[in-house]
Amino acid sequence: MANVIIIGAQWGDEGKGKITDLLSKSADVVVRSQGGVNAGHTVVVQGQTFKLHLIPSGILYPNTECIIGSGTVIDPRELLKEIDQLHKLNVSTKNLYISQTAHVTMPYHRILDQAAEERRGKYRIGTTGRGIGPTYSDKAERIGIRMLDLIYCDRYPEKIEWTINYKNAVLEKLYGLPPLNAKEIIEEYRGYAERLRPYVVDSSLKIAQAVKQKKNILFEGAQGTLLDLDHGTYPYVTSSNPIAGGACVGAGVGPTIIDRIIGVAKAYTTRVGEGPFPTELHDEIGEYLAEKGAEYGTTTGRRRRCGWFDGVIGRYAARINGLDCLAITKLDVLDELPEIKVCVAYEVDGEICREFPIHALKFANCKPVYETLPGWQQPTSHCRTLEELPKQAQDYLKFLAELMEVPIAIVSVGAAREQTIIVEDPIHGPKRALLDSKGKPVKS
Ligand code: GDP
Ligand code: IMO
Ligand code: MG
Repeated sequence: MANVIIIGAQWGDEGKGKITDLLSKSADVVVRSQGGVNAGHTVVVQGQTFKLHLIPSGILYPNTECIIGSGTVIDPRELLKEIDQLHKLNVSTKNLYISQTAHVTMPYHRILDQAAEERRGKYRIGTTGRGIGPTYSDKAERIGIRMLDLIYCDRYPEKIEWTINYKNAVLEKLYGLPPLNAKEIIEEYRGYAERLRPYVVDSSLKIAQAVKQKKNILFEGAQGTLLDLDHGTYPYVTSSNPIAGGACVGAGVGPTIIDRIIGVAKAYTTRVGEGPFPTELHDEIGEYLAEKGAEYGTTTGRRRRCGWFDGVIGRYAARINGLDCLAITKLDVLDELPEIKVCVAYEVDGEICREFPIHALKFANCKPVYETLPGWQQPTSHCRTLEELPKQAQDYLKFLAELMEVPIAIVSVGAAREQTIIVEDPIHGPKRALLDSKGKPVKS
């Protein structure tokens, strides 16, 4: 049995959905621990495209239990849309469970997210506008509405009413916006509560029972390491903890149950929204990556900023998440390029810097130091083993693994489930030894 965390090793959209779907084949339970409908995970199976936001990417397997954990934030209206959409595509949600302690995104969260962005002007973050930050702020401020409050809103309507009145004061006095009608919102949300009630459970208990029964559990990350509230490129981050440690907090499990941590990274880099991005390309290669990689957001449709692979943030992601292995996605997007650059260090204030500088102003001034590798200029999407890949593509992957000091377990060469190379079985294969018999670190 293995319990595996899958996280994004860059700024999100690394292909976590595809990798989670792939590994869900041998999972009994898939858990989303953090984030909300800011996430957009695309899974392509037998030519059909599924876009998931809150529902774990294991949902396409009829016997896999899917849990939306306590650390997530739930927009009931959007979640119900997602459920309806899956039903239309003949995907059952009978194995879907929602944490009773997950926080609920209310209409004022979305309005306040958008109003705050406008107010920030040149300091805007470029949020998804889905109310994520304000929902997590209310959680930290201890005035949030949780799934339990929602499904028992008939018993305690005054709690929701009090919060809406409080938010109305902010909307009117701070932003000059019209107040919301508490009664109408409670009525609307009562309807959502009725529909969602059957799915609501004590999620951490449910996961603990699965652990006891030695089931295989996958924890599907949302967003990515550099968007982490504590360890990302603050303030240009999301309001949760997408790093591996966040999965345990958000699911309500102890770190000792985790067997593997897989980092998903694209063979290049993308970012949506504002914030520094040292390897960003503003030229025709950036344009090529966006078009060939179809780099348009699953959630907002925004064009993703594109650039070369950044080994400095890659190494940082390996450290901050304790990665056991990597899944490198979208290798095929590089197929046509005559040469490919990889950032191996930064130059900042006249010095060479090999470690990610957490100081935002320093990071904003980092200039990438590149190594240039030859491209392969031939298609790779049909390859199913490493050996079938062109020699230059194999060398490129070896270069990334050595740079990040993490072995590659999976290579993705297309969006479809089968367009995948399994280098080492990331769940059942031998776990990379970290210490020798004398307790000394093993050098790779
Ligand atoms: P996530 O948020 O990390 O799950 O990633 P997204 O789903 O937002 O973005 C990844 C996009 O790349 C999706 O449209 C996937 O279908 C697609 N994709 C995933 N892996 C590959 C790959 O290896 N090659 C190509 N060409 N597309 C891929
Ligand atoms: P997945 O799970 C890429 C970015 C937004 C913005 C910042 C804050 O699909 O990888 P928020 O709405 O969370 O307050 O926005 O975070 N962002 C993502 N970027 N992929 C995501 O999710 C993202 N979720 C949030 O663009 O820069
Ligand atoms: Mg995405």
